Amino acid sequence: MENTFPTVVQQTCSWSKVMLMMQNHQGFWNHQDFHEGSLLAQQTFNAKPSDIFICSSPKTGTTWLKALAFAIITRQQFNQSTSPLLTTVPHECIPYLEKDLEQIKQNQNNTSFPLVSTHLPYTLLPNSIIASNCKIVYIYRNIKDVIVSYYNFVRKAFNIPLEDAPFEEAFNEFYQGISWYGPYWDHILGYWKASQERADGQILFLKYEDMKSDITSNVKRLAEFIGHPFSIQEERAGVIDDIIKLCSFENLSNLEVNKSGKHRPDTPVAIENRHYFRKAKDGDWKKYFTDEMVVKIDELVDEKLSGTGLVLK
Ligand code: A3P
Repeated sequence: MENTFPTVVQQTCSWSKVMLMMQNHQGFWNHQDFHEGSLLAQQTFNAKPSDIFICSSPKTGTTWLKALAFAIITRQQFNQSTSPLLTTVPHECIPYLEKDLEQIKQNQNNTSFPLVSTHLPYTLLPNSIIASNCKIVYIYRNIKDVIVSYYNFVRKAFNIPLEDAPFEEAFNEFYQGISWYGPYWDHILGYWKASQERADGQILFLKYEDMKSDITSNVKRLAEFIGHPFSIQEERAGVIDDIIKLCSFENLSNLEVNKSGKHRPDTPVAIENRHYFRKAKDGDWKKYFTDEMVVKIDELVDEKLSGTGLVLK
């Protein structure tokens, strides 16, 4: 998630103190610092039909998806050794609706770069995005791994010592729907229902776990959907494999910029890029969840998603 946290909370903090800074807006929770940007985007942003939105709930694989979409769209301009992804965290390669409105407007004027990212839930997207039938790529992930990823990210971003952030507390908050842009299940369902109801095929759903198990097909789907399909010649020349390698966790997490750089370094409080790259493993939740938590979250997911056709466990 994009971050500009006030200096005060970057000092040592506790989980509960950070959670006190959450507020609910039209059914979704967020850290208070993100309301202004979200509202401004909702009220003033004018989408163009050619804009393409990378949408997600935090900790579902946004960084990976951004890197892939950027690499696909810019592959004629850059190669494996000149890509900005080698020197810039993926979050800075694609402007963020809630923070980078000016940059997005400039891109729209030049029509050079159609990608925009956002964590906004579907129902809170600026109306012009829906009215313009903009393409939307949505990524989602197993809820248990999202909870663990979110817990670790918030803890590090806010400098919360382990003893002040029991996982159980984080689990209980998340379970009640209180997380950045949460409830997580409502975030997914908003996009999912829209994709089922809209007949225009303008929403592509990607699942983190599917991307891990079959990255090649998913990269091809993504490229086709965003209007930059690979030619047979490119496929034979290994362009798809090159993009997959460039955007892999192993490659990105070992780049100097992502080990020691900061995102939005000119803001009062920047986030260290390394926090966007943790383990990237499926099933890390098993080290954190008790049996009781597993039952609780499975029951919740069954209740929320039953009959929707979505699988989230
Ligand atoms: P973990 O915390 O489970 O390791 P987001 O980008 O939406 O914030 O999601 C962060 C999660 O994606 C983290 O998961 C992170 O490690 C993982 N991730 C980051 N870059 C990745 C990549 N290139 N490939 C796969 N997973 C990646």
